[in-house]
Amino acid sequence: ATTLGAAATAKGRYFGTAVANNRLGETDYVNTLNAEFNSVTPENEMKWDAVEPSRGSFNFAAADRIVNHAKSRSMQVRGHTLVWHSQLPSWVGSLGADELRKAMTTHITEVMTHYKGQIAAWDVVNEAFQDGTSGARRNSPFQDKLGAGYIEEAFKIARSVDPAAKLCYNDYNTDGINAKSTAVYNMVKDFKARGVPIDCVGFQGHFNSNSPVTADFQQNLERFAALGVDVQLTELDIEGSGSEQAANYEKVVKGCLAVSRCTGITVWGVTDKYSWRSSGTPLLFDGNYQKKPAYTAVLDVLNGG
Ligand code: G3I
Repeated sequence: ATTLGAAATAKGRYFGTAVANNRLGETDYVNTLNAEFNSVTPENEMKWDAVEPSRGSFNFAAADRIVNHAKSRSMQVRGHTLVWHSQLPSWVGSLGADELRKAMTTHITEVMTHYKGQIAAWDVVNEAFQDGTSGARRNSPFQDKLGAGYIEEAFKIARSVDPAAKLCYNDYNTDGINAKSTAVYNMVKDFKARGVPIDCVGFQGHFNSNSPVTADFQQNLERFAALGVDVQLTELDIEGSGSEQAANYEKVVKGCLAVSRCTGITVWGVTDKYSWRSSGTPLLFDGNYQKKPAYTAVLDVLNGG
């Protein structure tokens, strides 16, 4: 196949990208998106501050535009994200426990109802664990006021609202085997043992020289898959350039393809020009929408074997 999406489809996977609503008017951006990708994740437009900036008042215009674009091109959509400590409007943090629980329930219910039947997988909870070696939960209004059980509460609500959507836990610095990924692993194992609904784990895949692609990447995906969940690369980007960057992309995509429950890969942006790493070049297309060596490496792996 000659595109990332078609090559991934031939391997039973999807190949997606984060999309920013305010770039959908740019011809090169849209042409590259439409030609190469068959799944999209709104980069910011479904986050709490975007869809419910003040309590009970929902604004889906920007996210709808992305979802409608995706539907018109038969692309899947990953929903990102329902419960996260960041991009959280300040009114949420000022609620007491009872009102916060109600607000979380309302938020999940309203957003998932609006998109019911249109989202392949939701990042129900994002980045709930601390970095470092403690394996502890991250402080957030949810953790601090509702207690550790907020995560399973969120998943149970999500299942009841849209039973057809896959429900994912998503995090970063969990791509290899380390204290943080093991803490997530233990949570997922516990959820599976107790029947808490969870279908997938998202590994963001933000790699750079401080968090490189490690040799145990594939093994980490395998241990999660063995728990009975799908695994996905949800926000892949790898700092660097040239053949070194290409080799790292190759390792990651090979690792996913080697794990049957690794169902798809999403890169965190179409072009280096609009990467969240403002001075970096971590994506597959350069600032002029030209294919980089990393693109060719990914396409070759997807077409291989
Ligand atoms: O929309 C406002 C605009 O009105 C304002 O003028 C401008 C000035 O700063 O800011 C705009 O908001 C920015 C927003 O992106 C939209 O462009 C925020 O400042 C900026 O902080 C925000 O950054 C996003 C970041 O999440 C915030 O946490 C990045 O685009 C987005 O790529 C990034 O994505 C996260 C994932 O959701 C979770 N995993 C990590 C990943 C990378 O940080």
